[in-house]
Amino acid sequence: LGHSLNQDHVCRFVDSLTEGEQAGLVVQLESIDATELESMKDMLAARDTHGAGAGISPAAVVKLAPEDSEQISDRGRNALRSGQVGVLLVAGGQGSRLGYEGPKGCYPIGPVSGCSLFEIHARKILALSEAFGAPVPFYIMTSGVNDAATRAFFLENSYFGLDPEHVMFFQQGMYPALTAEGKLILDRPDHIFMSPDGHGGMLTALSKTGMLDDMSARGLATLFYFQVDNPLVEIADPAFIGQHLSAGADASVKVCAKRDPGEGLGVVVVRDGETCIVEYSELTEEQANARESDGELTFKFGSVAIHVFSLAFLIASFEKGLPLHLAHKKVPYLDESGACVTPSEANAYKFETFIFDTLPMANTVLNIEFEREDEFSPVKNAEGSDSPATTRRDIVRKAVRWLESCGIRVPRGEDGESLYQIEIDPCYAWNSAALKKRLPEGFEVTGDLLLKD
Ligand code: UD1
Repeated sequence: LGHSLNQDHVCRFVDSLTEGEQAGLVVQLESIDATELESMKDMLAARDTHGAGAGISPAAVVKLAPEDSEQISDRGRNALRSGQVGVLLVAGGQGSRLGYEGPKGCYPIGPVSGCSLFEIHARKILALSEAFGAPVPFYIMTSGVNDAATRAFFLENSYFGLDPEHVMFFQQGMYPALTAEGKLILDRPDHIFMSPDGHGGMLTALSKTGMLDDMSARGLATLFYFQVDNPLVEIADPAFIGQHLSAGADASVKVCAKRDPGEGLGVVVVRDGETCIVEYSELTEEQANARESDGELTFKFGSVAIHVFSLAFLIASFEKGLPLHLAHKKVPYLDESGACVTPSEANAYKFETFIFDTLPMANTVLNIEFEREDEFSPVKNAEGSDSPATTRRDIVRKAVRWLESCGIRVPRGEDGESLYQIEIDPCYAWNSAALKKRLPEGFEVTGDLLLKD
């Protein structure tokens, strides 16, 4: 097999391996698609990501329909009531920037409860299915690096109250990394270094694992897509779903103005008349910093990776396939003697596909601007911006806004922040209107507060 892929070197320790180890290596080699490997090598030769940033101009953006725009929200509510909306969470990544061992979704983020990212997402889905009287099937994409731990975490926590019948895990594929010369890399005598194939791997994985059939069998027509790192996400909010459906869009993308040119958000653009997202790492310095005459960034709107897809569109895109992207990374390798070396500099290339590369295949894409403070505060870094500290602060701020909209006074310190840590379990109230109905007469905030049944 190694020979047929033109990669004989991966078998150089084969005589010293047990039968079981040899079999493991064979399974890995069999999982590598020869045509895909050739595309990776071609891409390496050009060191380019299909000219991602060439010939782009900013894409049109519309505002999110206000909550009281009844007609639009009703479309969304009806879709939820009739059980046609599923939720898809991509959680197969490695979370290396956060430096947390284990699946990122297990990270404890609740400012008062210490609950995990997964718990917050799951409780929102439970609240939604209770509010609309229909199950909201929850699909969770994991990868070889975190599948078992993710499943175990849900099981240990009794699925956070969700019916396991409606929670589906599926595993994405892995891609090998390559040296600059296009060679596979052993990180153990019996093991080729591989990493998750990017969230674009979701399409193949959904198909291979039977999840597309499961979605059809459940009568789903619309999928709400989000990432594991953002606990402020308004999962399947009726206004967003309604706006997507009313426009007859294939895909809709939530966007907000970038905080600064260096913020790590993919930007929404148009190229050859098609909407696409160009990843921040693939914009040139010049593009990222370009400004209009009014001082605004030219590529101002970033995608926060909250999307709605029509299921039919996703199935059609799966058949067309997605382009590869490459990144220069540090990858452990075996030296001549067979000892594993962890390099201090990037020494190899990893490959991924991105789900947002489906957008150019869509007939209609809606880019919808939303209020960032209400829906986006991701946990990406251990410290500084987009860290657990800023995310917890933003969870509290959102809870304070909800309480104040219900006429409750929240004591604040000199810095203007709430004096107390405040958290609202999504099943206690999933929006400010629901909170108003729940709060007891004469309710006051007198200390740290967790509103939970
Ligand atoms: C991502 C987006 C970026 C967006 C930003 C918003 C990509 C490539 N970039 O950047 O455009 O503006 O979020 O916060 O997505 N994942 C998998 N499998 C994989 C790789 C990633 O499931 O193989 C999941 C991760 O678990 C995570 C999400 O995809 O939930 C994003 O991955 P991450 O690498 O953290 O992306 P960012 O660089 O933050």
